[in-house]
Amino acid sequence: MMRIGVFDSGIGGLSTLLACLRYLPEAHFLFYGDTAHSPYGDKSPEQVRQWTEAAYDWFIRAGVDAVVLACNTATSAAVSPIREYADVPVIGIEPAIKKALTLYPEGKILLLATTMTVAGAKLEQLLTQLPDARQRVIPLACPGLAERIESQRTDWQQQVRQYLHRQVLPACTPDIQAIVLGCTHYCWISDWSSGLAGRAIPTLDGNDGVARQLCRRLDIPLQTDACPELPGAASIDFHFTAEAAAKTRVARLLLAAHGIRTQSS
Ligand code: SIN
Repeated sequence: MMRIGVFDSGIGGLSTLLACLRYLPEAHFLFYGDTAHSPYGDKSPEQVRQWTEAAYDWFIRAGVDAVVLACNTATSAAVSPIREYADVPVIGIEPAIKKALTLYPEGKILLLATTMTVAGAKLEQLLTQLPDARQRVIPLACPGLAERIESQRTDWQQQVRQYLHRQVLPACTPDIQAIVLGCTHYCWISDWSSGLAGRAIPTLDGNDGVARQLCRRLDIPLQTDACPELPGAASIDFHFTAEAAAKTRVARLLLAAHGIRTQSS
């Protein structure tokens, strides 16, 4: 059975795991959430690189066939150095800016991401490569947003809604045509982001692109252009570096909300 490592600072990367599961329902997933160090977005790139490398080593010891960095901040800080020595394919996630510019050829695209992703060389590179991106993409750093989603405290939804209202709504000007979710944590609140400005603003994330890239790197033919249905069950081992029992419970509940029963190996 194919073994796929999926890495994030916390529960955000489970949204990427869901996308991978659609294409690889028979695979065994190892999900590593670095909750001892989350949130990553306000740490230094050097620290995030070291923690991501530690996770990569853990995956290799666990015998995975590929590693997915399901965290935009970790991808920004660590995917290039890890690829220099990696023994298995390492798939990173990037904000779906190209797709947004193509699907919405007029107006502006609001990019929500962590402070590190917004300031990082990888985003700079992406914006330079894509025609029009500099004029049309408005990056907005959202310090503290991933942390509020990660907390899953009883009042987390209220906290997130207040945050969106104060920090994100002012940036949703009438010329914004789409919102790109440049942090996998934000995928859990995509409906709220899209409804924020009192009109339906579409949201895009990079998860489906990651899943397709994973299949390509593993030489697994893609049967169709359409995104496959989610299976009803999945084989997943969870490894959280702090609050493991509580985080595993939250992870199982999030997946169950998508109709997925989880079993461990
Ligand atoms: C965070 O831990 O700050 C979120 C990381 C990300 O998905 O970019």
